Amino acid sequence: MSDGPTGSNHPAGSDRQKSESSFGGRFRRYAQVSGTVGAAAARFAGRRMTGGGDSLEQATELREALGGLKGPLMKVAQMMATIPEALPAEYAAELAQLQSNAPPMGKPFVRRRMVAELGTDWQQHFQEFPLDAAAAASLGQVHKAVLKDGRTVACKLQYPNIAAAVDADLGQLKFIFAIYRRYDKAINPDRIYEEISARLHEELDYAHEAQNMGLYRDILANEPHVHVPGVVPELSTGRLLTMEWLEGEKLLSFKTADAETRNALALNMFRAWYVPFYNFGVIHGDPHLGNYTVRPDLDINLLDFGCVRLFPPRFVKGVIDLFWALMRNDRELAVEAYESWGFTGLTNEVIDVLNQWATFLYGPLMEDRPRLIQETNAGREGREVAGKVHRKLKDVGGVMPPREFVFMDRAAIGLGSVFLHLNAEINWHQMFMELVSDFDVAVLEKRQADVLAAHRLELAA
Ligand SMILES: Nc1ncnc2c1ncn2[C@@H]1O[C@H](COP(=O)(O)OP(=O)(O)O)[C@@H](O)[C@H]1O
Ligand SMILES: [Mg+2]
Repeated sequence: MSDGPTGSNHPAGSDRQKSESSFGGRFRRYAQVSGTVGAAAARFAGRRMTGGGDSLEQATELREALGGLKGPLMKVAQMMATIPEALPAEYAAELAQLQSNAPPMGKPFVRRRMVAELGTDWQQHFQEFPLDAAAAASLGQVHKAVLKDGRTVACKLQYPNIAAAVDADLGQLKFIFAIYRRYDKAINPDRIYEEISARLHEELDYAHEAQNMGLYRDILANEPHVHVPGVVPELSTGRLLTMEWLEGEKLLSFKTADAETRNALALNMFRAWYVPFYNFGVIHGDPHLGNYTVRPDLDINLLDFGCVRLFPPRFVKGVIDLFWALMRNDRELAVEAYESWGFTGLTNEVIDVLNQWATFLYGPLMEDRPRLIQETNAGREGREVAGKVHRKLKDVGGVMPPREFVFMDRAAIGLGSVFLHLNAEINWHQMFMELVSDFDVAVLEKRQADVLAAHRLELAA
């Protein structure tokens, strides 16, 4: 009956008008739900400030409000869930469960979108193009199609005019951050907001994502156990990304596999994330469970290159310097590292707090033996360290985490949670040393400049 994502009826008109009117309906719903989220956030903040209320009940309330919203704000909510203590534990757990998917587009709507992207004869490129989506995406959906030459491809098709919805979500985020600031001064989220805003805007542009994929194929070319889909450029646009379909299983279905299997998977995931970072200054900022699959031979398919962060080489050097600073108890080197990350106002007290947090995060890398991540970094101990650091940060007047921190932190926590799920027992120290023992910032600068130039990408200012 209705073919738009909103279920509303469209006035007759051109394709363009139709998509816009159905988008209007969608946008109204966004505004409505966002209002509910805003109200829940305000209630939450009010109770928190007056010290009352049952936070589990509030968390459920917030999830219900967010549950009606299927869009970019959820990605943001998930990200916030990974920033330690940015939200009370109950909220973080609720938010982490959310899936950031847009509602499906109906068949006539898909046809109109394909006409808009590839022209009226779009079907001539495909042997098969099922109009039902194979998977949901945060800003659209993915179709599993077959090209005329027989290749099976994934077509990630975006909603039209989604930029306004992203901006509406970012407006809500700004509001939530402002409320947060009123009751908690431990972390100034201004740079975090800027970074999330920049990456979300980038994510709208599938042409940029295609460039990121080219970059990743290049920098992981020598990693035999990690696979990146190849782009089909002639069938890709700013809002349609056509790429090789990669078949695989969910990582979580390996939770109960034997130890050897789980350790092999952890190793492949480690290299998929950290070879790009330490060798090229690049990180995949969205280690969400939907963004990788496992092949029968335990190789990893890496997907979704919408949120890729390029780091200045000095930041990578800072991450490695801090490791050595902690290993050797070298306070000056630690300060140098924090400064290179862009932390300012580093009093002795702030340094102590940051060192405490860093010792906790780097813990698994610091011991030269096979071990579980959770020997020190999970559950109660994690919450206790986070709580203590949080209280101390408040005491010293708070810090403003630099922009680079956001996705580095998200990647580390996301991967940490993968390793927890896998219960992997690995010598993390040795795996880390393999990547960084002969690190040279000048070499990274040259290597990064070359590979970015080859893919027409640039470091953000
Ligand atoms: N190349 C691919 N091969 C197989 N499945 C894919 C591929 N690309 C995406 N998918 C599926 O589509 C889903 C959404 O795609 P993704 O790129 O993650 O979108 P989003 O950026 O919106 O999260 C993925 O979780 C995955 O299930
Ligand atoms: Mg994804």
